Order: sequence, then C-alpha cells, then structure tokens
Amino acid sequence: MLIRRPKGWEIPEREVTPEGVYMNRRELLRSMGFTAAGVGSLLATGSFAEASVQQRIRGVDAAVNYPDWPAADKYPAESSEVFTEELTGRGITPQNVTLAYNNFYEFRTDKANVWRHVERFETRPWEVEVGGLVDNPQTFDVDDLIRSMPLEERVYRFRCVEAWAATVPWTGFPFRALVERVQPQSRAKYIRMTTALRPQQMIGVEEQPWYPWPYHEALTIEEAMNDLCLLATGVYGKPMPKQNGAPIRLIVPWKFGFKSIKSIVAIEFTEEQPKTLWSTVTPTEYGFWANINPEVAHPRWSQATERVIPNNQRVPTRLFNGYAEWVADMYRDLGAEYGEWLYR
Ligand code: MTE
Repeated sequence: MLIRRPKGWEIPEREVTPEGVYMNRRELLRSMGFTAAGVGSLLATGSFAEASVQQRIRGVDAAVNYPDWPAADKYPAESSEVFTEELTGRGITPQNVTLAYNNFYEFRTDKANVWRHVERFETRPWEVEVGGLVDNPQTFDVDDLIRSMPLEERVYRFRCVEAWAATVPWTGFPFRALVERVQPQSRAKYIRMTTALRPQQMIGVEEQPWYPWPYHEALTIEEAMNDLCLLATGVYGKPMPKQNGAPIRLIVPWKFGFKSIKSIVAIEFTEEQPKTLWSTVTPTEYGFWANINPEVAHPRWSQATERVIPNNQRVPTRLFNGYAEWVADMYRDLGAEYGEWLYR
C-alpha cells in the first residue's frame, strides 16, 4: 500500500517547524490551486488557516443535513447528571461550529466544507452488523436499536490530535449496553469498528485511493465497557447530522478524535488487536491507544496545549482530556511511560 504521496513541491516534514507556519503554507498552496497531498500530514494540519474558522462557517445552515429519522421522537434525551457542561470546565461549542467544522475524510479533507458534500449520503435504512467472537451475533436496524436503548445527553470535551478542541452535547447510549446484548466469548479482547464505504455517495473515497478504506478503528473490550464510552446517535438535542457521523458513531472523549469513528456499519469482536486505518498509514504518528496526554508530543508538534474552537484560545491539554478519574486505571499495566499509552 502506498503510504505517502509526496509531491515535488512539498518541502520535507523535517523542515517544518511551527504548526501554524505549516498550515499557512498549505493554505497558500491551496489558494494557488494545488490539492491536498500528504497522507500523514493531512490529518495533522487541516487545510486552511484555523483563524478563519468563524469567517468560513458564517451563514452556514448545516442543519439542512439532518436526516429524516424514524426515531426522532427520542430527542432531546434526558441530560446526564454527571457529564454536564460544568464538568467540562468550559462552555459548549456553538452548534453551527460543530456542524460545520468536521473531519470526515470519506467526503473532504477540508474541515470547513465536509457539510457541503454529504447530501447524497443515505443514512436510512441503515444496519449495524455485530459479530465475531460473540455468542449472540445480531444485525440491528439502527432505529430499532436506538428505540431499544436508554438514550442520554452527555456534554463531553472533544480533542482532535491536530490540537483543536471543542465541547459537545452528544446524545447516545453506553457502548456497554450493546456489548452485553451480544455476549462476547472469553477469547474476545478487542472490538473492531468499520465505517460504511459508499464511493458513489462519498466523494472523497475515490479521490484518495491511497487510504485503506473503509475507515476502521478499534478499542479493547474493557475500553468499550468503560462508563464514558458512548455510541452517539445525536447531537445538540437532535439526530446526528450526516457530517458528524449519522446515524451512529463512537465517542471516546479521553482519546484523540480519530478514534471516534463515524457512520458505523460493522462491529466485530476479536482476539487479536485489530489494525486501524491511521495506525496503518502512519504508525509512528497515530497509534492504537491514542490517549490524550499533554506530555507526549506528536512527532511533529507539541500536545501540551490545545486550541478551543471557534476562538482558538490556547489552553493546557488535560491528561486523558480531563477524564483520568474514569479511565486511567485501564492503562496502569501498559507501562510507566506515557508515550507507550499513545504510540504502542
Ligand atoms: N470517522 C470516519 N469514518 N472518517 C473520518 O475521517 N475522522 C475522525 C473521527 N471519525 C473520521 C472519523 C477525526 S480525525 C475526528 S477529529 C473526528 O471524527 C471529528 O468528528 P466531528 O467532525 O464530529 O468533529
């Protein structure tokens, strides 16, 4: 598999120092008519000067992409008493920002424009196949699943590996509830998740043939059973918009955002640690664990601070994104080095 497609005009990564300089260079190239190039570098840099977020989304009515949702009467769900805005320590990100600033590579790598390209993406009917090492494999119609689950609204901090951060009110149900339904066998240790692959509906797929589509991610079963781990089906009190991962996506708020896979069609229980899309294309930059840790720099930039959208103020990154109390115990045996939590 082709891991990286360097263009002649690209300067080597090693010559790139501050992240901002790098982003501005990309913006410049884009404005000159060049398209995005580096596989590993794209996730890292986004595609436009981040200071222009507010300007670029002005006037966007991203809600236009809300699907016609049979279980829509389940929204808004009851608010969690634990996972509140107060617990996040900052204000909820405005809805028009979260809905118009996305990473969803199957459509576009340009975060500000994903929402413009999801119209053809059909999110109904939708099935989620759950199988592998389980006693009770099942294929769920997503609306039947949603109706049968205890939906709750939880406000979580969200942190992308690119260093932008947000605070989002997701609606969903604990991943644990799904795990219990299918009854994993004792050999099962991991859960592999896969996004839908629809080149006809997802314009980014054929444009970027170097990615090992479909998008795939994985967790340990213990992680999926953690209280924080959510299968999200809505946001801001409504069904999930397509650009945010309709009809069902993962939210693991203590890990970098690339773990939070969107538009899931398959969930498989395995004995071996599954490969993930990002750990396959750039293993030295995006590991399996991907736990948020201010002390472990990404190979190309520091993770000590984060940039809260849309105003881009820099604030310190918190260990496990502020959720250490819930999740740190799971990683004690991984090794004393924080780096192992991220890259092993
Ligand atoms: N899931 C799929 N299928 N494709 C993607 O490109 N991007 C990931 C994650 N899930 C991605 C994905 C990354 S890098 C981030 S930061 C989050 O989705 C962004 O979620 P948001 O657009 O709802 O903020």
